[in-house]
Amino acid sequence: MQTEILHENDIQRAADILNSGGLVAIPTETVYGLAADALNGQAVAKIFKAKGRPMDNPLIVHISSIEEIYRLVSKFPDKAKVLANKFWPGPLTMILPKSDIIPDEVSAGLNTVAVRLPSHKIAREVIKESGKPLAAPSANLSGSPSPTTAEHVINDMFGRIDAIIDGGKCEVGLESTVITLATDTPRLLRPGGVTVEQLRDAIGQVDIDDAVFNKLKETDVAASPGMKYKHYAPKARVIILRGNSDKYAEYVNNHNSDTTAALCYEEDKDKLTVPVFTYGSKSDYSKQAQALFDALREIDKTDIKLVYARCPEPIGVGMAVYNRLIRAAGFEMIDIG
Ligand code: TXA
Ligand code: MG
Repeated sequence: MQTEILHENDIQRAADILNSGGLVAIPTETVYGLAADALNGQAVAKIFKAKGRPMDNPLIVHISSIEEIYRLVSKFPDKAKVLANKFWPGPLTMILPKSDIIPDEVSAGLNTVAVRLPSHKIAREVIKESGKPLAAPSANLSGSPSPTTAEHVINDMFGRIDAIIDGGKCEVGLESTVITLATDTPRLLRPGGVTVEQLRDAIGQVDIDDAVFNKLKETDVAASPGMKYKHYAPKARVIILRGNSDKYAEYVNNHNSDTTAALCYEEDKDKLTVPVFTYGSKSDYSKQAQALFDALREIDKTDIKLVYARCPEPIGVGMAVYNRLIRAAGFEMIDIG
């Protein structure tokens, strides 16, 4: 398949492709999404094929104004309205009971649907111009780190989809926060750019799903099916080291070989005697979020076999960084004091 590379002035072309049942990768403020007309089950099915995504992992439906949610859901509770007014447009996805117009391909057989109103100008223009809600997972091959630049999308998806709109680098750098409001008490399923503290300030009690911090057991049913799959993983084995900067550097320097690397904060860099990849500064959780997936993809370009990652602090947006990195590490963690 020929993949067209489009730019911000090609919105009409992107909308035409989507309206004829094609796939277009679009920039959003979180990560690039792989979009199809959410009301066209056949078009949505192509997303799963292009990504190699398991069919039981449902997709987020993207809208360009709050009013568009009413025909997608069968209930829009008050707490969801509060969150929509406060955090949309932005990096928040809400799970709600779905309406009948949502194809099974989107909801993967669940009776709920995930909805998000992104803030990225290009994403919203494409949704508006196509006149359709757009189903869009992250535009990576299933299992790879989510793409935060058009180059990342081209690496994974060129030849597999109709078009990619190059909108530069994504501002947040990690996928949206996912919260379900289809349960009695709202529950965080995936941390992201909107923090759990912000959610609790807005609507009171918000539980945190076990899968945010822990590996699901074989027998567990995932509240969010995406949580059970290996995710964000580079080719190298990643081990997280929990400890301060000096202990970290000492451990890594004592365990090095010619195929070992460090993934750490900028501040740790000078202490290390192995190749170093950084994911932002210790004190700046937003920068860490922006940098993490790019660092994992840079590691993938090398022959490095083992990466010792400095453990992120699960505070604020850092909770999302922690959540992604423990998955990249397949939950391998060593306490070094
Ligand atoms: O920032 C984002 O959310 C990006 C951009 C493109 O919007 N999209 C994204 O989509 O990260 P994806 O498919 O990579 O992740 C969506 C997550 C998956 O873990 C999926 O299982 C979960 O949301 N999800 C979707 N619909 C759900 C539902 N009805 N119930 C529970 N979880 C759901
Ligand atoms: Mg994804």
